[in-house]
Amino acid sequence: MAETINIIRSERGIRGQVWEYRGHGETTAFVPTMGALHDGHMSLIRLAKKKADRVIASIYVNPTQFAPGEDFDAYPRTEKHDVALLKAEGADVVYIPKPSSMYNVHHATKIKVGGVAEGLETDHRPTFFDGVALVVTKLLNRVAPDYAIFGEKDYQQLATIRRLVEDLDMPINIVGAKIARDEHGLALSSRNKYFDTEGLKVARRLNEIMRSCALQMSKGENVDLAVDRSKKALLAAGFSSVDYVEVRSPNSLTVLEGGVLNGPARLLVAAHCRGVRLIDNFPVKAKSK
Ligand code: PAJ
Repeated sequence: MAETINIIRSERGIRGQVWEYRGHGETTAFVPTMGALHDGHMSLIRLAKKKADRVIASIYVNPTQFAPGEDFDAYPRTEKHDVALLKAEGADVVYIPKPSSMYNVHHATKIKVGGVAEGLETDHRPTFFDGVALVVTKLLNRVAPDYAIFGEKDYQQLATIRRLVEDLDMPINIVGAKIARDEHGLALSSRNKYFDTEGLKVARRLNEIMRSCALQMSKGENVDLAVDRSKKALLAAGFSSVDYVEVRSPNSLTVLEGGVLNGPARLLVAAHCRGVRLIDNFPVKAKSK
């Protein structure tokens, strides 16, 4: 375990540190975050440690991925706590860029990923992946790691970043990490902090409802019927609205036409509970023949 953690705030500092590691023949794995760290993020740090000699995390609440009216100002900022968690988990470096260094007044470049970034989240947060693609490109350019780790919790984000990195020839291995859940199956998220006890009870029903939907589809139930039933079950459980429940192909996220599945798929959901928007996703096994 790293005994100390190196806190780096400058672009020059992070480049120098990674060059130094490389000079010693050490590989690096990078875990970008927006802070408010929890055990879901820590599972990425643990995976990063398995992949490379040195682990670098970043903390930056990226304004360009929040739309007006979303929770940018209210997003929890808990730097001391985050650094302590990263240190305890054995990360070597935490890069905390100065906000003023990320987007200067002349910034004019946009990055738009098509295909996997279309539909699902984009139907409800139209500029979200533009902001993610931009900040991830900047962070990957600054850190230039061998590996970068992203959670399957944000499944469409992971697919979008894989596309971006391949399309722009970035020499970085993107690694997906499994979803970390609480003992009731609720995916860990910084936004779970917003729930009171009642809200938490409702939120925890999502896992059970979606898993049962995935199971029925893998047994051969019609996709449209299963999806429709799960939306109704979410509303009956206390969710105030459902943005989407969709079944897509697992890698390219292409739309699967209704009917019965004939291969593995991914079930993706976004729904609102007590003012909190939850997203989650589940594997759907192919029907056994
Ligand atoms: P953030 O929400 O802080 O998440 C950072 C990383 O942790 C993402 O890759 C996310 O998928 C992963 N993660 C969060 N909760 C998880 C869980 N329960 N299980 C597994 N992985 C989990 O995602 C972002 O930040 C930003 O969009 C970012 C990529 C940093 C760009 O600003």
